[in-house]
Amino acid sequence: MERKLSVDLGTRAYEIVIGPGLLTRAGALIGPHLERPRVAVITDETVAGLHLDALRAGLDAQGIAMQVLALPPGEATKGWPQFSRTVEWLLERQVERRDLVLAFGGGVIGDLAGFAAAVLRRGVRFVQLPTTLLAQVDSSVGGKTGINAPQGKNLIGAFHQPALVLADTDVLDTLTARDFLAGYGEVVKYGLLGDAGFFAWLEANGPALAAGDTGRRIEAIRRSCRMKAAIVARDETEEGERALLNLGHTFGHALEAATGYGARLLHGEGVAIGCALAFDLSARLGLCAQEEPGRVRAHLRNMKMKADLSDIMGKLPDAEGLLTLMAQDKKVRDGRIRFILARGIGQAFVANAVPPEAVRSLLEEELSKRG
Ligand code: GLY
Repeated sequence: MERKLSVDLGTRAYEIVIGPGLLTRAGALIGPHLERPRVAVITDETVAGLHLDALRAGLDAQGIAMQVLALPPGEATKGWPQFSRTVEWLLERQVERRDLVLAFGGGVIGDLAGFAAAVLRRGVRFVQLPTTLLAQVDSSVGGKTGINAPQGKNLIGAFHQPALVLADTDVLDTLTARDFLAGYGEVVKYGLLGDAGFFAWLEANGPALAAGDTGRRIEAIRRSCRMKAAIVARDETEEGERALLNLGHTFGHALEAATGYGARLLHGEGVAIGCALAFDLSARLGLCAQEEPGRVRAHLRNMKMKADLSDIMGKLPDAEGLLTLMAQDKKVRDGRIRFILARGIGQAFVANAVPPEAVRSLLEEELSKRG
């Protein structure tokens, strides 16, 4: 059942393994990458409570010792205080350049532990053990690591590719339905940006995979990671094509900022609504067929996901306020915000010159539907 992919980055190429029971085989899978039988695990308290025993047993089976730092769960961990605590903990534990750090958790832990590995002794290797769907299909692959600054999210960091990614699909069973579907927002994004066949597959198979079908979950993660791996191999540091992975993110980040980066709107929920808005904008600009945004929303609704601004509880800024948040988040060129737009489902492209009036009128119309 297990599937393997590789991210082709020459001497820094690595494998992504996707399937059930990987934690209990962690020792056998990680062992070949070790020069001595010990690892340093960075995780959070929630993941540790649920899954650390399985990881310990998997490493024990091959005689690999582990030391564990469990950080508080949540986005607030992804800043300087917990980052410096992590780096100092790794130094105190005498983690050396030949050792491996294991990033065991969701996107917060993957980004923070990856960045700690990037700077520790000018770079030690690390393994991603992503425990959320979002981390399995997006943040654990591609080498973006970092922490948040008071000035904004992910503003401090480094590109540092992992040595291996193990996406154990069993851990997804402990996610809430809401967290699972938020991660699924990133899965839908891959179909929308570059693979109409995958989007059609998701339309047919999404409900079954959300209900727990392991085979379909593995297939969705495999196809998502395959697309991301191919894009990263061609454009590791986001000089061009990698920006397509930000489909839905310009709108999504503004909505996250407007709602306080918390439980009102999860990152993947913002991305899903943002994808629908990016298709609205594309249709308004005459770039894609008028039916496409409706098809995107129909799938999100069928999956019981948020699809519109009216699905966000509480107050939102007006259109001007949202535009200001977008302009802060993304580079503005000659007063124009850069968007990822689409010529159709599976055909996204980078649009550098989107007229702000088109975005403003779309947002005004969508906000007016909130009543
Ligand atoms: N999450 C977008 C990227 O990795 O480029």
